[in-house]
Amino acid sequence: MGSSLQHGRGSGVAAALFSLMLAAVALSGSAATEGTPGRAAAGRTGGPITPLPTNIEHSARSRLGERLFHDPRLSRGGRFACSFCHQREKGGADGESFSLGLDGRPLEFNTPTIFNVGFNFRFNWRGNFRTLEDQNEAALLDPNLMGGRWDSLLAGITADPDYEKAFAGAYGDGIGREHVLDALAAYEESLVTPNARFDQYLRGEQGAITKDEEHGYQLFKSYGCISCHQGVNVGGNLFQKFGIFADPFAGRPASTEADLGRFAITGNPADRHVFRVPSLRNVAVTAPYLHDGSAGSLEDAVDIMARNQLGLTLAKPDVALIVKFLHTLTGEFRGHSLAEPAGGAAR
Ligand code: HEC
Ligand code: HEC
Repeated sequence: MGSSLQHGRGSGVAAALFSLMLAAVALSGSAATEGTPGRAAAGRTGGPITPLPTNIEHSARSRLGERLFHDPRLSRGGRFACSFCHQREKGGADGESFSLGLDGRPLEFNTPTIFNVGFNFRFNWRGNFRTLEDQNEAALLDPNLMGGRWDSLLAGITADPDYEKAFAGAYGDGIGREHVLDALAAYEESLVTPNARFDQYLRGEQGAITKDEEHGYQLFKSYGCISCHQGVNVGGNLFQKFGIFADPFAGRPASTEADLGRFAITGNPADRHVFRVPSLRNVAVTAPYLHDGSAGSLEDAVDIMARNQLGLTLAKPDVALIVKFLHTLTGEFRGHSLAEPAGGAAR
């Protein structure tokens, strides 16, 4: 998983690369919509966005991972489970600008969705982890997230005979750190939400999306949103600066370390305010938006994107059409749309 696409940052280079990207996307966009008859019959799967796979792998390992993900015994004092912040019934996140950490204070970053996470090329807002296992271990040991320690964590689950059986069934040997991390990752990779109406449209199904929604997709392409939000996850495969044409942090009382983006990780000045472009899959059910949860509605987020990332002030009707398109990206988990009340609930 994970492409190695990593587009340029830093103002001049970024601007030049950016126009190239726009041109390339414009080309592939037209190929996808005006392709040969054979292609039209086969749907629009050769375009800048591709459907999520429908063959999702479930295994003894992913089922074990599912149990671990929901088990508070993985945290210090049994107070948190991964699922407290990454709730399936709330689009894989928790609906808050910031979740509260173990110390009762807000975390530094908005909690991202756990759905389709396996399609991201790096993990976390700043992309500071390359594998799910590394990200998950950091979450387990972070004093303010799960606050765990491997010795007590493993002792806790080893005391449960059910776990002993489940680990033996999944791995053929005992309980250990690597198996815990592997099982969690296997579960996360199974959290795929296929069959969004937009994916049905890409597969060529008649009437899957309305004329307005299709118009919104055309605008998403023609204004250039697609140059950053594309691929199977409609994002999640690039690093980009937040604030290419305008400074979204101007006029704020104080910039936080989180606002610095990847700069706080790499120390490279070109990485100031650079973030992993987030996936827009299921975005209609994962408000609030942005790394700091500062955009409460999709309309706000689209407006902020247009101004800061594209140097455009969009008319209200255009924003509304793009938002309609974004609503078609809501998929299904275990056969139920995430848009249904409790769509991803304990199924
Ligand atoms: C108290 C809330 C909280 C808990 C508990 C929590 N997380 Fe998270 N999770 C977050 C936040 C906030 C981020 C974003 C951190 C960042 O970007 O630096 C995140 C990011 C992630 C990501 C990366 C998502 C992406 O799009 O890159 C994964 C995977 C993840 N968490 C898995 C887990 C697992 C597994 C556990 C349990 C071991 C867990 N989380 C527990 C809040 C939480
Ligand atoms: C140059 C790259 C780029 C372009 C172009 C771009 N975006 Fe983004 N988008 C980003 C980045 C980076 C973020 C994360 C910003 C942050 O860290 O807060 C983001 C965040 C978002 C979010 C919030 C997602 C979430 O889960 O919080 C939405 C919605 C969004 N973009 C939609 C759009 C739309 C619609 C357009 C076109 C009008 C667009 N973007 C153009 C890079 C881009």
